[in-house]
Amino acid sequence: MIKKSLSKMISQTEIAADIFELIVESELAGEITSPGQFVHIRVSNHWDLLLRRPISISSFDPLSKQMTLIYRREGKGTQMLSEWRTGMELDILGPLGNGFPVGEADPGQTAVLAGGGIGVPPLYELSKQLTAKGVNVIHILGFQTAAAVFYEQEFKKLGTTLITTADGTYGTKGFVTDVLKDIEFDCLYACGPAAMLRALEKSCPDKKVYLSLEERMACGIGACLACVCKTKDDRSGAAYKKVCSDGPVFRAGEVLI
Ligand SMILES: Cc1cc2nc3c(=O)[nH]c(=O)nc-3n(C[C@H](O)[C@H](O)[C@H](O)COP(=O)(O)OP(=O)(O)OC[C@H]3O[C@@H](n4cnc5c(N)ncnc54)[C@H](O)[C@@H]3O)c2cc1C
Ligand code: FES
Repeated sequence: MIKKSLSKMISQTEIAADIFELIVESELAGEITSPGQFVHIRVSNHWDLLLRRPISISSFDPLSKQMTLIYRREGKGTQMLSEWRTGMELDILGPLGNGFPVGEADPGQTAVLAGGGIGVPPLYELSKQLTAKGVNVIHILGFQTAAAVFYEQEFKKLGTTLITTADGTYGTKGFVTDVLKDIEFDCLYACGPAAMLRALEKSCPDKKVYLSLEERMACGIGACLACVCKTKDDRSGAAYKKVCSDGPVFRAGEVLI
């Protein structure tokens, strides 16, 4: 159930250049139904920051009621968030959206989890849930440069982890798709920039592929239409899906990216 909650900040750590790991204690942790769901955070009551900022849930524990969020300091909102300190209370709405379908990969099968930059965080909880049910996971995590790489060790504990950097300063030089072409798999889950998702969709037309879109949002609950995208099979151009409430995860081919 979607709730609004005042959630206590347990810790906040800069884990790579401009990348922050934020742990909160929140009753919302008990409401999460799938990896890839997100929360909507109010970062300030100032008039130009009233719109909540969507951030994916990177991992959660319903017993301790803790959720981990990982975000990149981009603009004013995330700058303000990075200045919040332990013990403060964050106004969080969630959990929102429909996440990755863990049931689409069977025990013994191989799933590739492909993440680009700040699309990497939701794959962590997904990987934990897939490995718990006996799916072999291969992570391909793409970053711009070595200083931006995060969570490599955490992912390595769950399965094979391959890193790419666009400038070649760490791992394989290039993009996630450059590494994917040499891998056999049954199912692909991905989150990252639209260009990466388009390339992945094109490169494996015959596989089960699930893509998480990070469209700009306003309400986050399906009421304002700020986040709509067109469906692929609609000839009239009038049909659409709301990324916040129909997604953010869609099966490849369902929407135009
Ligand atoms: C479902 C969903 C999940 C997301 N999960 C994460 C996450 O786990 N970690 C994370 O760091 N970010 C995530 N984002 C992106 C994050 O919401 C934006 O980076 C953030 O709202 C920017 O706020 P700001 O005030 O700092 O920047 P603004 O001043 O609003 O914008 C600064 C820059 O960020 C870009 N930006 C703004 N909104 C988005 C967006 N929705 N997607 C991509 N770029 C954006 C703008 O184009 C601009 O270049 C997610 C977005 C969505 C829709
Ligand atoms: S953000 Fe309002 S409908 Fe999706």
